[in-house]
Amino acid sequence: MNRSIQHELEEIRNQGLYRSTRMISGRQSANVTLSGREMLLLCSNNYLGLAGHPALAEASIRAVERYGTSSGASRLVSGTMELHEQLEQAVASFKGCESALVFNSGHAANTGIIPALVGRGDVVYSDRLNHASIVDGIRLSGARLFRYAHNDYQQLAGLLEKRGDYGRALIVSDAVFSMDGDLAPLPELVALKRNHDALLMVDDAHGCGVIGRQGKGSADLLGVADEVDIQMGTFGKALGSFGAYAAVSAELRELLLNRSRSFIFSTSLPPAVLAASLAAIELVQSPEGDRLRERLHDNSVFFRKGLKDKGFAVPDGSTQIIPAITGDSDITMRFSEALLEENIFAQGIRPPTVPAGSCRIRFTIMAVHRRDDLQKAIETVGMVGSRLGVV
Ligand SMILES: Cc1ncc(COP(=O)(O)O)c(C=O)c1O
Repeated sequence: MNRSIQHELEEIRNQGLYRSTRMISGRQSANVTLSGREMLLLCSNNYLGLAGHPALAEASIRAVERYGTSSGASRLVSGTMELHEQLEQAVASFKGCESALVFNSGHAANTGIIPALVGRGDVVYSDRLNHASIVDGIRLSGARLFRYAHNDYQQLAGLLEKRGDYGRALIVSDAVFSMDGDLAPLPELVALKRNHDALLMVDDAHGCGVIGRQGKGSADLLGVADEVDIQMGTFGKALGSFGAYAAVSAELRELLLNRSRSFIFSTSLPPAVLAASLAAIELVQSPEGDRLRERLHDNSVFFRKGLKDKGFAVPDGSTQIIPAITGDSDITMRFSEALLEENIFAQGIRPPTVPAGSCRIRFTIMAVHRRDDLQKAIETVGMVGSRLGVV
């Protein structure tokens, strides 16, 4: 007999892992309207506020008027439009690399790139806290997987020493860890990849647009941009649009274009999205981009310190992703519900997104947050935390 779906849903509920969506109305900005109530938004990845920026909206509208609403096919069928090529040139020049390939999302990029690079007989070394889309890409690849403890490059070195008789080796890491907000030790990973003849891929979904010179990302910040073989990044977070890219050598682009199934077998991104991404890349490199990054940085430092001063366990980090560790699933979800009652929208994060026992409220800060709203939020989070016995 078929396993009952009702029973499975009950199990998810009983484990405290039930998920549902919440609908917001209006534009994404520092505040959003949720079920008719205005909330301070502290869980969006729209870090620079570009999702509501007129330059991106105008670029999208113009692109729809000129090119229509769809690309109509996969890039390899009839779906490569001028805008795809222009966006790839803009990404390559922004990232200072030979070329780039655009993917339909960060998830599609990771599940497309990794199996294109490694397969049976190859080996992947992956940080334990890497994003789920990297985990999915590795599973799809069929390569042998070795996971190393979070950011533990010494353990990684030991694993690479014992590499054995595998064909190609790939080291893959989030650059800014999505649930912890800390940075990967990219210079050490580069040294290891050089010494052990491996490829290095970093996922800069949360660094692109935000850190490095003109927002060029984590590898630029840490001075190793030329040495990372695959810099993957997304347009859907700080860049206020949608989609993803792999910034790579011309040779690697050719391989990805020929082998990435998520690229080959999917309708390509539509003109409105491509045009918004192009406008965002221009904007993040402008003086306005610098100003937004400075505000984001200052807001993040302020909020992180505020939570720490209230007694929350906040993992070390310096980025706009600021987790407050809460413990188990039940208390975490009660925490996020209590914040909603206080008009603060922040998500509780549970397994499998984070390891069991390390549930958290993941706060994300934006350049468009006002300082007095953040101060009020710190007070409210502190009050809820002490009421629930978290601090
Ligand atoms: C580190 C990381 N990689 C990849 C993704 C997936 O990107 P996208 O939302 O564009 O599919 C995310 C986003 O959720 C992420 O945090």
